[in-house]
Amino acid sequence: MTFSPLVGAYPLSRPRRLRQSGWVRDLVAEHHLSVSDLIWPIFVHDKDVARDPIRSLEGVDRLSIAEAVKEAREAYALGIPALALFPNIDPSLRNDDATAAYDPDGLIARTCRAIKSAVPEIGLIVDVALDPFTSHGHDGILSNGRIHNEKTIEILTRQALVQAEAGADVLAPSDMMDGRIGEIRKALEAQGLTDKLILSYAAKYASAFYGPFRDAVGTSALKGDKKTYQMDSANTDEALREVAMDLQEGADMVMVKPGLPYLDIVQRVSETFKVPTFVYQVSGEYAMIKAAVNAGFMDHDKGVFETLLAFKRAGASGVLTYFAKYVAEKLAR
Ligand code: PBG
Repeated sequence: MTFSPLVGAYPLSRPRRLRQSGWVRDLVAEHHLSVSDLIWPIFVHDKDVARDPIRSLEGVDRLSIAEAVKEAREAYALGIPALALFPNIDPSLRNDDATAAYDPDGLIARTCRAIKSAVPEIGLIVDVALDPFTSHGHDGILSNGRIHNEKTIEILTRQALVQAEAGADVLAPSDMMDGRIGEIRKALEAQGLTDKLILSYAAKYASAFYGPFRDAVGTSALKGDKKTYQMDSANTDEALREVAMDLQEGADMVMVKPGLPYLDIVQRVSETFKVPTFVYQVSGEYAMIKAAVNAGFMDHDKGVFETLLAFKRAGASGVLTYFAKYVAEKLAR
């Protein structure tokens, strides 16, 4: 930006003139949040109850399939473009090889079919990752104590195909294995599933902010961390390499995750690649806002809207947020 001849000096220029009342602030606002920016992550479970509250995520429940269909209808009526589905399956179905991940009658496949037949117009994004299906809670197959890249990709590819056949519109690999986008894309093409979108969690950091999510999908027992596959929070150039590779391998859209602590990454990715760039306001960010509000340190709605607008400012095309339905209702009023 070059300034000199265009910006007058005080008092000819008084920036406060543009802030004096609501109508002019609205008129000159550079960024806007709208319902079409929102992706709503929901948790489904295979228990017999309609809704099961998640202790660490106030106001978020695990849903039965029937309840998820109801929520999908409401989300669609509110104008939310897409849902992101995450499963909590019975621990007895989890094993070292994550075989439930590619069960054509598994929880996610059944949920996709149910939502797609009831609300065909809403976008369905599914998580391609093994952690809800492994007995240990890692996103991959262990071999001699290490996550084995190629063995994991083999299972991820089978999972993605099952999800795509079940009606998922967008496959969203969140596992951070090398080369998985290319293999999944190849498999989709081979099946003639050429319209399926891939939203790659391209820059996903090993983060302390995923705690409540692990409670939600039932992987809190995870030992150790995910630092051998998720990114080191010290790095930014590496995020650009990850995004470049995933785009070359056939990703249509990319994601940065978590959100607020990684706004610089959102900005660099969106400016560098000019491709649809999404950001995930993760569970720990949500829980942190709720905790501050409950302690009386923050106004709920102001905190929520300010953080979501920050993502837009940084260049995000849209935001995955547990606040999506709440915000959509607010925006509709
Ligand atoms: C795992 C996955 C995680 C999240 C989405 N997919 C957690 C992890 O990597 O351990 C986190 C989302 C959130 O915290 O809201 N495949």
